[in-house]
Amino acid sequence: MAGRWNQIPLHILQVLSMAIAVAAAVHVETRKTVPVFILGDSTADVGTNNHLPGSNARADFHPNGIDFPYGRATGRFSNGFNSADFLAKLLGFKRSPPPFLSFNTSSALVKHSLRGINFASGGSGLLGVTGQSMSELTVTSPPAASQRRVRNVVTLSEQVKQFLTVHKTLKLVLGQEYAKSFLSKSLFFISIGSNDIFGYFQSKSTISKADFIYSLGCAYETHLKNLYKLGARKFGIISIPPIGCCPSQRVFNETGGCVEELNDLAKAFHSELTAILKKLNTQPGYEGFIYSLGNAYDMTMDVILNPAPFKFKDVQTACCGGGRFNGEAICDPKASLCSKRQQYLFWDRFHPTKAASKLAAATLFGGGSRYVSPINFAQLAQA
Ligand SMILES: *[C@@H]1O[C@H](CO)[C@@H](O)[C@H](O)[C@H]1NC(C)=O
Ligand SMILES: *[C@@H]1O[C@H](CO)[C@@H](O)[C@H](O)[C@H]1NC(C)=O
Repeated sequence: MAGRWNQIPLHILQVLSMAIAVAAAVHVETRKTVPVFILGDSTADVGTNNHLPGSNARADFHPNGIDFPYGRATGRFSNGFNSADFLAKLLGFKRSPPPFLSFNTSSALVKHSLRGINFASGGSGLLGVTGQSMSELTVTSPPAASQRRVRNVVTLSEQVKQFLTVHKTLKLVLGQEYAKSFLSKSLFFISIGSNDIFGYFQSKSTISKADFIYSLGCAYETHLKNLYKLGARKFGIISIPPIGCCPSQRVFNETGGCVEELNDLAKAFHSELTAILKKLNTQPGYEGFIYSLGNAYDMTMDVILNPAPFKFKDVQTACCGGGRFNGEAICDPKASLCSKRQQYLFWDRFHPTKAASKLAAATLFGGGSRYVSPINFAQLAQA
């Protein structure tokens, strides 16, 4: 299913492109919004994993989506819109662009290649192994042979490959030169890394923390370079929040505090990412590379430490789940559900509420240098 577009003979697109190339070019010139491409994990997934029949990282069931238009469970790991949606809204869209895997005709692919596409897949990571099996999050034994072929997530490498299809489509529709200029103006938002850290933490790996963070940084750099080669220039990057404070992790702390080791890894990841982005920004061969790095750690921690000004009443317990902190069971129709959802930071045991996602997007978009640097996402869009 996922490889569908890679298999489409390009001549079909070529024929189609002749018919629409002119119209498309005019259409693009007159749009006020900047095209936006979104990659990452469940923090940005708007239904990718609904297209993976065997995936255990899905949220296309109630009460997910309870505050989405018409109460639809779209696959978002949220009670409503997620951060990808709110960022897209701030850019003038109605919500996030749809998932790449939802396109079932070549005209849908062309149309959305010109506006924006969401590739993010819940459970995925920077590393190819992350999210490949149930064992990442729940059990420690390797998956049974029969399970191994089930496609659980779309890894970031695969997301970049999917973007290659978009790149080819744009070249055919717009021509090489115009596609290049089109992509140089497009925004690329990436929100990923938490699942890699959970995987490392739970595997009790003998690799040192420093070496692991370094390897994540190398992986990130490779993905960014691959996107750059395909024409991406403007990157809005979101680092890892204090994942040790998720309800699912507080469960493991006797006093109910955050799991410090996970938070330390998240902080180290942010430092690594800062260094890599600074390097790419000045490295020969990467001219025009421009970025904005959102500090998801500090922006979330500031809310956890001082929730009142942000209008949150509960920053520890998930609104939807079960057990201690509602952090011991998934959010499904059998889960216990809070009534005042807008007062909660966490929707389920891992993910923010719609209210928290809205705050995060607003901070990324318009925040100062404590939260997003060297420029914010609004400035990135204008640059
Ligand atoms: C194609 O996708 C559209 C929109 O997601 C859907 O309404 C339609 O039923 C799909 N068609 C096929 C043939 O799968
Ligand atoms: C548990 O939380 C407390 C704060 O309540 C913190 O001091 C302690 O380091 C945490 N334990 C672990 C294992 O992270």
